[in-house]
Amino acid sequence: MFAVLGRNARLLLGASAILSVRRGRRSGRVGRAADGAVEGAVVELPLPPGKPGNAFLDLLKYVKDPDGYIAERVEAYGPVFQMNYFGRKTVIVGGADGVTGFTNVEKNITKSALPDTFSQLHTEYGTMNLAGEAHKTSRVGLINSALCEEAFEFFLPVIKARCSEFLDSVESRGKFRPAQELKDWSVTLFAELFTGIPFDRDMMRLLYSYNEGLYGLIPLKLPFTAFGRGFRAKDELVGRLRRQIEELTQSGQIEEPKYSALRRMMKSEDENGENWSVDRVATASMLMVWGAYVELASLLSNAICLMSSASEVRDKAYAEASAKPAGTQSDLKKLSYLQAILDETLRVKPPSGGGFRLAEEDIEIAGYRIPKGFVVSADPRITNMDPALHAMPESFNPDRFAERPAQSLPKGTWFPGGIGLHGCPGIPLAMIISKAFLADFVQRFSSWRPARGSEGWVNIPIRILGDKYEVEVEKR
Ligand code: HEM
Repeated sequence: MFAVLGRNARLLLGASAILSVRRGRRSGRVGRAADGAVEGAVVELPLPPGKPGNAFLDLLKYVKDPDGYIAERVEAYGPVFQMNYFGRKTVIVGGADGVTGFTNVEKNITKSALPDTFSQLHTEYGTMNLAGEAHKTSRVGLINSALCEEAFEFFLPVIKARCSEFLDSVESRGKFRPAQELKDWSVTLFAELFTGIPFDRDMMRLLYSYNEGLYGLIPLKLPFTAFGRGFRAKDELVGRLRRQIEELTQSGQIEEPKYSALRRMMKSEDENGENWSVDRVATASMLMVWGAYVELASLLSNAICLMSSASEVRDKAYAEASAKPAGTQSDLKKLSYLQAILDETLRVKPPSGGGFRLAEEDIEIAGYRIPKGFVVSADPRITNMDPALHAMPESFNPDRFAERPAQSLPKGTWFPGGIGLHGCPGIPLAMIISKAFLADFVQRFSSWRPARGSEGWVNIPIRILGDKYEVEVEKR
């Protein structure tokens, strides 16, 4: 039995059918985006359809129902349109042609377009704030320290042990709150993997306060604003990490295997060939934990929620997990049905839309002119719900990915971690952890169901079930 999604998905279904027709009509124009920014001719092109609209009203509508809002716009205007996003004129780009056009021009607009409060709190070291060489070297630093095969080899036994401990506790209690508990669990796990330094309750509280500050709308550093509290939390958390890194270095303990990711990060170089300072290492580690924890908690709790009403999916997952060991990275890669479940979860319940870039010059995408100063975002949700790509797109049906893996979808139609130069470098790690977790989960529990009335979603900034969402589990 497949779980059937709600109204938003149905809206997107209708919208997608229309956009398929529109896409056909426009195909002659699209090829012209191929070599990035275009001079002269671009001035002649029309702006994308739609109006940026009223900042306040648009924000309210979007926050209430992001998928529904996007679906209505797609239905009215097609896969490339204007909207007002957090007070900024924004062009949303969807569909294979639009997204390919976006990646072609993106090299000219590497700069992220983040709201000012977010950008300030994300710090001078945050990759999302960086462009050009500084961005490139920063990504290399993160990937080489904690998001590469060498790191994963060391992480895997730790991941498996933490999954097992967590699920022992769920088993003994017979129920748990996936979103709430997996957020805490993910913070603890990522802190251990990335830094080797355990985050105590206080550090966790500081991280959550920092996270709330990022989305604070009042850009004043005052004690009673989320933004102000976020700043203080960041400074305190980074200060603690910095002091601990200094102590580890002085005592020589940093040479222990559990600090290997941290050690590699300390060898990272900036765009001038200088080693990262301790302050940068402490800040970047904190940002890594922050960038990873909600996304992982969202993916896992969404998968648990969707599987709760899909007994065939649970049975197939169990059959695969019990037949194949999950001891090494290559074992995990072979768990293709679990991969299909995770991809299908990301398709029907994507944690967010795409990243945001600033058009620093007039650019062309899909035959439209996007003027300098506009924000541009390639949005995965539009093709996720296109019935031409995914039959009955509103259904939760992992078999579709088991039959046709996500990698074989047409270019520009599948990018759950965003796309382009700022595309997510953490997806492979999220997959390793999620597969190890699900493999253990389905081998312990034959079924699970939400406690009555506990379901509720938080849509912004990351879609995740509410903290009160509770699941009762049935042991095998
Ligand atoms: C299912 C899990 C995840 C999802 C859906 C996800 C999604 C995203 C998205 C949409 C972006 C923005 C891309 C853009 O601007 O185009 C992003 C960026 C990023 N993510 Fe993830 N993410 C996930 C897990 C992780 C994990 C585990 C890490 C580990 C540290 C991570 C680290 C990052 C970083 C560092 C960036 C910024 C990259 C840059 O600016 O160059 N993510 N992610």
